[in-house]
Amino acid sequence: MRKLKININNISKKFGDKIVLNRLDLKVFESESLAIIGESGSGKSVLTKCIDGLLSFDTGTISFDQIKNIKNLSFLQMNKYMSKFGILFQNAALFDSLTIKENLMFANKNDNFSEILNEVSLPKSILKEFPSNLSIGVQKRIGLARAILQDPEILILDEPTTGLDPIIGKQINILIKTLVKKKKITTITVTHDMESVYEFSDYTAFIKKGKISWYGRSKDINKNGNLSLKNFIKGIY
Ligand SMILES: Nc1ncnc2c1ncn2[C@@H]1O[C@H](COP(=O)(O)OP(=O)(O)OP(=O)(O)O)[C@@H](O)[C@H]1O
Ligand SMILES: [Mg+2]
Repeated sequence: MRKLKININNISKKFGDKIVLNRLDLKVFESESLAIIGESGSGKSVLTKCIDGLLSFDTGTISFDQIKNIKNLSFLQMNKYMSKFGILFQNAALFDSLTIKENLMFANKNDNFSEILNEVSLPKSILKEFPSNLSIGVQKRIGLARAILQDPEILILDEPTTGLDPIIGKQINILIKTLVKKKKITTITVTHDMESVYEFSDYTAFIKKGKISWYGRSKDINKNGNLSLKNFIKGIY
């Protein structure tokens, strides 16, 4: 039986006159990996930021376990709520002036990072480096390690493979698959990369014009009758 974790109901979000999310509905189930796909500017990052509390939304409700609507949380409750999430941001978002060790210490002060570095296939010598000396692929691994070190209830991965060459992208997809499936963390991945969908996402939601225009099992995605989604998969958008 699938267990409902996050219920997004009828949420809308606009910036000025621009409507980004338009009465959008989506459910996230415990221990499942969900991909959110859609063209650039369709509101994928905004949607995840509404879910993890980084952005407020205008109308509608987001419930999380017993919390009926996260919009009603007090400042302190919101801080606690946000700590449930481990986030890999679109650009990895490491602190440039801090070493990798110091970056990881933001997530967990009591770890010596041996196990997590092993899990993301990086040597321990990386701890003394600065982010700017590392390739974007390595920075994303560190971002992923930092997100997982927080022991999150929900992992949010925003474009984990964008900007990487296909070989490194594939390595990262396999790595995420191993981590997500082993730990059974509820995961939301925003992506343009269909390999991420096929490799480690149980379900996929396709966002279009501020709404979820297709939702289903990732393995059924090529059987869909949704023309916009078909074009998206072919890379025509
Ligand atoms: N803080 C903000 N202020 C104003 N407009 C914003 C803000 N954040 C996002 N937007 C706008 O909302 C729309 C959706 O942005 P969002 O970043 O969610 O797109 P996306 O689907 O993640 O795109 P991409 O695939 O390029 O990352 C865009 O038109 C963007 O310019
Ligand atoms: Mg985005």
